[in-house]
Amino acid sequence: MMAINPSSLRRALGCFATGVTVVTGLGANDEKLGVTANSFNSVSLDPPLVLFSLNRRAYSMPHFEECGHFAVNVLREGQDDLADRFATPLADKWDGIRFEIWDFGCPILSDALANFECRTRYTYDGGDHVIFVGEIERMRADVDGHPLLFYGGRYQSLDTERP
Ligand SMILES: Cc1cc2nc3c(=O)[nH]c(=O)nc-3n(C[C@H](O)[C@H](O)[C@H](O)COP(=O)(O)O)c2cc1C
Repeated sequence: MMAINPSSLRRALGCFATGVTVVTGLGANDEKLGVTANSFNSVSLDPPLVLFSLNRRAYSMPHFEECGHFAVNVLREGQDDLADRFATPLADKWDGIRFEIWDFGCPILSDALANFECRTRYTYDGGDHVIFVGEIERMRADVDGHPLLFYGGRYQSLDTERP
């Protein structure tokens, strides 16, 4: 048995492999928001719901709560630099980043593996995080591309071809 504390939790939860996303939004005064998040998950197919959880202490927390929309950009293999950039607080995250705007104003990363533009449907208390559940309104996906993975605290790549 392991003691349950933040550092042992981080190591134990690192056994669970995930993809990596950048969740984006549009804050007050048209400020672009972008947060690297591996807490993204699918919830429901009908209606089409997804979720991510955001640290209550994140700079962008109050802005995502107010904005009412978010976009999830699933990163592809080799986009470690984007993941690092959007995980760094207060840096000029958007300098030189290629993005488009669809209907809700959230920046859509042009080179991502998949993009989901969502309307926030519910928020839930998640301890030191808030869980955002959104309904997908628009999406695009390069279904033959390879994802960036996060496993054991590191970015990784698939070493097999897609079936
Ligand atoms: C691989 C990876 C996954 C992350 N996943 C999350 C997440 O799911 N939720 C979260 O709140 N922060 C997550 N973070 C940390 C945020 O990206 C980081 O705190 C970021 O600075 C928040 O942006 P903000 O300060 O502009 O709001 C993750 C960082 C990395 C490197």
